Amino acid sequence: MTFQSTFLAACRRQPVAHTPIWVMRQAGRYLPEYRELRSKVDFEALTRTPELAAEVTLQPLRRFELDAAILFSDIMTPLQGMGVDLTFEPGPVVRDPIRTDAQIDALPQLIPERDVPFVLESIRLIRPQLPRGAPLIGFAGGPFTLLCYLVSGRPSKEFGVARSFLYSQPRSAERLLDHLGDAMAAYLAAQAAAGAQALMLFESWAGLLAPAQFSRFALRAVRRTMSALRQRTDVPLIYYVNQGSALMGTLSDLDVDVIGVDWRSPLGEVSKVLGPGKAVQGNLDPAALFAPPEELKHHADEVLRQGRAAPGHIFNLGHGIWPETPPEAIARLVDHVHERTANP
Ligand code: CP3
Repeated sequence: MTFQSTFLAACRRQPVAHTPIWVMRQAGRYLPEYRELRSKVDFEALTRTPELAAEVTLQPLRRFELDAAILFSDIMTPLQGMGVDLTFEPGPVVRDPIRTDAQIDALPQLIPERDVPFVLESIRLIRPQLPRGAPLIGFAGGPFTLLCYLVSGRPSKEFGVARSFLYSQPRSAERLLDHLGDAMAAYLAAQAAAGAQALMLFESWAGLLAPAQFSRFALRAVRRTMSALRQRTDVPLIYYVNQGSALMGTLSDLDVDVIGVDWRSPLGEVSKVLGPGKAVQGNLDPAALFAPPEELKHHADEVLRQGRAAPGHIFNLGHGIWPETPPEAIARLVDHVHERTANP
């Protein structure tokens, strides 16, 4: 009998032996073994050295019975491959923020095999080492989220510079987004060809946009990426929209398998708006991992209860895990989700 991944089955809205769980940012600073490695090697070197990127990707799966791995890299890595000069401090800082058409025109196409070969090599190294048949998720940043960093030049709460760019230079913004949308399609298709078994687009800053701006700018570019990917691969596609409660209605006809949801809206309500064609991924508040153990179970049960309203549910946090989180909380969460949802 071939092993059926619960994660891939849930993405495809098929029956599962238990609700699958993985954790956004599951490889990272809350793990002592990551901090240990990171004390010797800087973040970029970790992402650029396939053996180390593979090691860090696998660390959380050795500790916890997670149902999927996610490639250790960053949303800005392919932009460096396109020649964008940036550093991680630890958030991305772009040396020459992009504000003009000349800069947009000067951005080259991304050719993943040439520009980021180490990412593809990491995937090839990870695949045969994955425990328990867990699949590997490849990822990229949503075009609008990448625009936020490229135009603002650094992390920001409101990304006012990037958001005003949409109004002051809408045509330039569309051109930049088209370019990024095409580049991320090439990047993700190459990840799938190298062995990634699902692909996720992180739209971390979508919630800054009003629905009309979201549709015109962010979603238009995502449609471009996703429809290109549908032509080139049949792995499940996931679109994570942070702070996207007001935007869910515009996503029901986006051609993806799964919508990732932050913790602010209950999954049952979200699923009603998305309709029967989408599985959901989420959405425990990362802060809930600081609750006493019995309370944490209660919060997880509520997420599971809400998730049952959707045609497929992948348990996750609503956003990335915080570096201060005790690893034992993740161990308890993973075991609880599996025990609570196991079918005899
Ligand atoms: O385990 C995983 O999820 C894979 C690794 C991963 C990283 N970044 C590693 C990282 C993933 C999926 C990302 C995506 C990412 N990067 C996003 C989208 C997801 C989200 O959280 O909204 C965004 C917005 C970025 C941009 C970015 N990179 C920021 C804001 C920061 C600094 C803040 C932070 O969380 O550390 C980074 C650096 C970064 N990316 C680190 C890690 C582990 C920290 C580097 C270090 O070890 O010092």
